Amino acid sequence: MSLKGKTALITGSSRGIGRGIALKLAEKGARIAIHYYRNRTAAEATLEHVRKLGATGTIVQADVCKPDEIRRMFRQVRDEFGTLNIFVSNARTEAPTFYEPPMELTLDKWDTAVDSQAKAFLVAVREAVAFMPNGGRIVAISFAPGGRFGSWQPWVAMGAAKAALEVLVRYFAVALAGRGITVNTISPGWVEDSVLNSLPEVFQNGVREWQERGWTPMGRLGTPADIGNAVAMICSEEANWITGQLIDVDGGASLVDAHLPLEFQGIARPTHAGAA
Ligand SMILES: NC(=O)c1ccc[n+]([C@@H]2O[C@H](COP(=O)([O-])OP(=O)(O)OC[C@H]3O[C@@H](n4cnc5c(N)ncnc54)[C@H](OP(=O)(O)O)[C@@H]3O)[C@@H](O)[C@H]2O)c1
Repeated sequence: MSLKGKTALITGSSRGIGRGIALKLAEKGARIAIHYYRNRTAAEATLEHVRKLGATGTIVQADVCKPDEIRRMFRQVRDEFGTLNIFVSNARTEAPTFYEPPMELTLDKWDTAVDSQAKAFLVAVREAVAFMPNGGRIVAISFAPGGRFGSWQPWVAMGAAKAALEVLVRYFAVALAGRGITVNTISPGWVEDSVLNSLPEVFQNGVREWQERGWTPMGRLGTPADIGNAVAMICSEEANWITGQLIDVDGGASLVDAHLPLEFQGIARPTHAGAA
């Protein structure tokens, strides 16, 4: 599964899951455009990793909430690479820009969530396909549970924005099928070395313990490399018949029934905390 000779742009690849995706695509031989918003030092660190893997790359900057900046970013990638084989829409604004329960959510926060996901994807895909050869790959990174459930109240704006993103994926998949360009969603479960690590420790520990108990049947959180592997697979030549799909990459978390205690389902596991 080689991506030698391919070019890829991954938004939000300065750190977190985006960095994990950039490194996996670089490992497979792709030339990488690393995108950041404010954290140039982190983007430079990603580029250094990319080079250590024997690949080449460049750095681009944009606020994905601003269509003009998205267009400028794609112009820069086009000037540097000439063609774009892979586009991964991964960037997500910081939690305080959208995190509010439905009854208090301001319209500004709603707009930030939707602009950064659905509107950004709408603008970006049209820019990308203008210099994407037939057989290209487009991947959206979602958090599908946020769009399916209603219980994590302050996630409402991002949940709705991700749901709209997932719908766009299906429409673009059909629109671009004639050119052999596939468009898919990857939905990670909770991942280490991501936004999670910036949240209060009690939240982080609660999430880890919950997954280890069995809510993720594989008993651990994901890693950026796990998500990078899934993206690399969907970007391979061999995945050319898979389009418009949402793939949960979550160690089985999306398969667990929330209506029954884990013990009744026969999947409860001792946690580190419990075992200590
Ligand atoms: N973390 C998880 O467990 C998890 C689970 C499921 C899905 N996801 C999805 O995976 C993706 C990455 O999540 P993450 O936790 O790895 O993210 P993260 O560590 O919080 O990193 C966010 C990335 O987005 C960039 N960014 C922030 N605001 C931006 C803006 N206005 N315009 C453009 N770029 C902006 C950041 O750039 P700077 O470095 O320059 O600030 C950074 O590269 C997101 O789409 C998220 O919804 C995450």
